[in-house]
Formats: sequence, structure tokens, C-alpha cells
Amino acid sequence: MSTRLEAVEGDITLEHVDAVVNAANAHLAPGGGVCGAIFAAAGPGLREACEALGGAPTGEVRATAGFGLPARWILHAVGPVWQGGDRGEEALLASCYRRSVELAAELGARSLAFPAISTGIYGYPVEPAAEVAVATVRSTVEGHPLDRVRFVCFDRRTLAAHRAALGQAPGARRW
Ligand code: APR
Repeated sequence: MSTRLEAVEGDITLEHVDAVVNAANAHLAPGGGVCGAIFAAAGPGLREACEALGGAPTGEVRATAGFGLPARWILHAVGPVWQGGDRGEEALLASCYRRSVELAAELGARSLAFPAISTGIYGYPVEPAAEVAVATVRSTVEGHPLDRVRFVCFDRRTLAAHRAALGQAPGARRW
């Protein structure tokens, strides 16, 4: 079975997939960026659910319900803060993508949407982050029953980086 991978431009809070990934902080607390958008769209139940989890280390992922989102689950992935590239950032970013795919499969999700973890407030350069994202998802989905994985990019540059990493033309559409 093969998993379809696609990059699109959009707002991840509107995605109709089984699970969406949040670019979280280690406290699993509300923040800005995609995290702020997810907390606002999900509603107050998400804050309580995250408080009950008590945080997560960098590179790890925790699941909650989707609350007010169309998605059934939210997977809170704690990305690394970019510190120049020699503090293990690449391995920690890869861990976010790998653990998200594994957790999605454990939950029974068939479709999964990622934001560009760590590339906003945490400062990870977009192009290398997209390479890590695509390579890690490609190598992890094998053997997991996921039908589709979507990279939801908030701007054109992020979209172009993911399409390049996927080996797709800038305007390509897969589904
Ligand atoms: N849908 C999809 N992507 C979005 C959305 C959205 N609604 N809003 C922002 N983004 C994009 C950003 O443009 C960026 O490309 O998500 C990417 C990740 O950026 P951030 O949200 O800033 O996440 P990150 O760099 O991982 O920083 C995490 O920011 O919000 C806090 O609590 C969070 O402390 C944590 C830190």
C-alpha cells in the first residue's frame, strides 16, 4: 500500500483529515503561529486537555482530541528551536515527523496534515526543514496504514520548499 504525499497552501485548522499536527511548545501551552490558530479554532477544551498532559520533551508528540476542529485528533509535536544547526536540531525535527506518523497510525488515523514545524517562531530555515519533513515522512509511512499525508503550507515559499522536496512542479496537484 502506498501513501499519497502532497503539499498545499492553506490554513491547517480547516483541514478535513483524521489528525492534524500542531507545532507545539514543551509546555503544550497556547502560543502564537499555528499553535495559536489551533487553540483558537479548537476552543477551551483543548487547553484543559493539554494541561492534563503536563508537557512533552523536544522531538516528542502527544495526542489530544480535535475538539472544535474538523480533525478527530491533534498531535502536538514539540519542534526544536533553531540554534545554528549543530545542536541536534535536524534529528529532533525528524523525530517530530516520525513520531507523528507513528502516533497517527497507532490511533487509527488514515489521513494526516502537518504544518512546517519549527520554521516560524522557532527559526528553522524553511528549505532544509522541508527536506527533513518529506524524507522522514517518506521513510516512516512504509508499513503504516496511512492513505494520505498533506503538508499544509501557510505561504508560497514554504509551499515551494515542500513541493521541491517532494520532487513536484510548483503548480502540481495530486488530489
Ligand atoms: N496553518 C498552517 N500553517 C500555519 C498556520 C496555519 N493556520 N499559522 C502559521 N503557520 C505556519 C507558519 O507560517 C510557519 O510556516 O506554521 C509554521 C510554523 O510556525 P510557528 O507556528 O511559528 O511554529 P514553530 O516555529 O514551530 O514555533 C513554535 O511558537 O506558537 C508558538 O507555542 C508555539 O512556542 C511554540 C512556537
